[in-house]
Amino acid sequence: MPTQEDILKALRTIDWDGRDIVSQEMVVGVSLSEEGGGQRATLILEIDPDKKADIEGLKSRVEKTVQAVEGISAVAVILTAHQGPHEHKHASAPKAHGNGLPNKLDLPNIKNIVAVASGKGGVGKSTTAVNLAAALSRKGLKVGLLDADIYGPSVPRMMGLSGEPYVDENEKMHPLERDGIKVMSIGFLVDETEPVIWRGPLVHSVITQMFRDVVWGDVDVLVVDLPPGTGDAQLSLIQTVSVAGAVMVSTPQDVALLDVRKALEMFRKTNVPLLGLIENMSYFECPHCKQRTEIFGHGGAKAEAERLGIPFLGELPLDTTIRTTSDAGAPLTLTEPEGSVAMQYKAIADCLWSALNA
Ligand SMILES: Nc1ncnc2c1ncn2[C@@H]1O[C@H](COP(=O)(O)OP(=O)(O)OP(=O)(O)O)[C@@H](O)[C@H]1O
Ligand SMILES: [Mg+2]
Repeated sequence: MPTQEDILKALRTIDWDGRDIVSQEMVVGVSLSEEGGGQRATLILEIDPDKKADIEGLKSRVEKTVQAVEGISAVAVILTAHQGPHEHKHASAPKAHGNGLPNKLDLPNIKNIVAVASGKGGVGKSTTAVNLAAALSRKGLKVGLLDADIYGPSVPRMMGLSGEPYVDENEKMHPLERDGIKVMSIGFLVDETEPVIWRGPLVHSVITQMFRDVVWGDVDVLVVDLPPGTGDAQLSLIQTVSVAGAVMVSTPQDVALLDVRKALEMFRKTNVPLLGLIENMSYFECPHCKQRTEIFGHGGAKAEAERLGIPFLGELPLDTTIRTTSDAGAPLTLTEPEGSVAMQYKAIADCLWSALNA
């Protein structure tokens, strides 16, 4: 069975910018876990963003090299931007420990972190995250909403928020607020003109910062809107904080696809409880005659949820007003809290809250 030393030995053969990556202290975490008869290696590499070398090339070289170590069945590489001396002075900064990965942050004020995830993009994660946060808040809970989509942050627009968070004298950021919901987004911090390739290495440090350097105060549920799939943002979140559970959003067409199963697998393997599946754009309700058209047939997602062994939390129609309102920064759960769509989100929020307290 491969050890951390075997991995480091292999990594010593990789040269970046003139020296091998181990002696440059770029490898800040190596962990090994059992997976399907082999070992899965998760590595965290710290990159100096001032060195404009080929980062994507480095990432694939690391993956190939570690994959070639005998007994390794899968490799995940998380790139993180090198943090300057300024950031290292924080006493709560996670330190490598035991398994070679940083400790999770201890966040006593945040009771439950709930990740909203999906296999594919564009299925309505952000819409769901925003409306669920609003529905939970209307129950009287203290709610935070964190947009962890570094490639396409949409929570600021959907919540009708813009501007920069207030930074206090201790250099901590204060979330923006709407209807009592505390909101932080990578969109408030990352320059959207920054080339996407440079955002990748920032993911891990930005996610850590979103917890360590943000004054969330007391929060019952922190809803985290993730990018689609199983990338760095998901792994970073799972490794940085204790996630109470994940909610999967799917449309009827994609629920049976491999992407959904892969995303579920990632949460299972990292011991994040699966709180349930939400089917979005499930059916079409005619705004005039209210007739319901099951465009993709009915019951597919529910049956698939059963097959996958996760609870089915509910379904939302394909409804133009959901789109126009959320794209215009006026989510229905806040603007029409007694309407039928808000009631559907409320029912899902109730199930979710019970699942968190089960
Ligand atoms: N139930 C719905 N009915 C109609 N339109 C919807 C519904 N849910 C989401 N939309 C619209 O579909 C588009 C994609 O939704 P959203 O941005 O929430 O998806 P996402 O999964 O977060 O996407 P990404 O993967 O890009 O982050 C948006 O324009 C949104 O307003
Ligand atoms: Mg989104």
